[in-house]
Amino acid sequence: MLYVQTLFYKMDSFEINKIVAAVLVTILVVLGIGKISDLMFKVDKLSVAAYKVDPVDDGQVNLASTESDVDISALLALGNVEHGQKVFKKCKACHSIKQGGGNNIGPKLWNVMFRPVGAISDYKYSKALANYKKDWSWEEMNGFLIKPSKWIKGNKMGFAGLKDEKDRASVMLYLNQNSDQPKQLP
Ligand code: HEC
Repeated sequence: MLYVQTLFYKMDSFEINKIVAAVLVTILVVLGIGKISDLMFKVDKLSVAAYKVDPVDDGQVNLASTESDVDISALLALGNVEHGQKVFKKCKACHSIKQGGGNNIGPKLWNVMFRPVGAISDYKYSKALANYKKDWSWEEMNGFLIKPSKWIKGNKMGFAGLKDEKDRASVMLYLNQNSDQPKQLP
């Protein structure tokens, strides 16, 4: 009898040990997973932070740096009016450039350089352009032509932009040339 009891006791403690061990293992596994996912989360946050510090804009121009620090005379020196006339073929589907030309899908562009943004009274501009309240300076035109949708949010010019500096410089020179009073280059 005593023997049987001891056996029971032994089995019991063995079972209890197994249960305790199982519980301990479970706790360890749960803690371990927590630690690992913690770590993964930290690594994730780190790489997100690294990404934010140095955003890779898939080859696109950084607008912030072109807004104010752009060296306009150096930029314009890259272009020429003849090349500008060729580049303007991309604009012709929507814009007239001739003196006395009319509005098309886009507003007429004779005299556009240095006039206020959205100034053609018989053209129906988007609110974005109508309310922009700046003039078409070299800087504004350059920024706009890099990527119109980004420079003036909500405007309706369906044109991706001119990434190439020579193209932009040239088309600006061409716009300046098609005016009652072309401006001296800065
Ligand atoms: C698919 C048609 C389309 C093409 C292509 C296009 N534009 Fe436009 N453009 C527009 C429209 C539409 C507007 C009016 C935008 C608004 O009101 O939001 C506009 C507005 C403008 C304005 C503002 C004029 C003002 O009176 O304030 C300029 C400058 C301009 N475009 C230049 C260009 C140049 C330069 C090109 C070629 C490199 C070009 N656009 C190509 C449709 C086009």
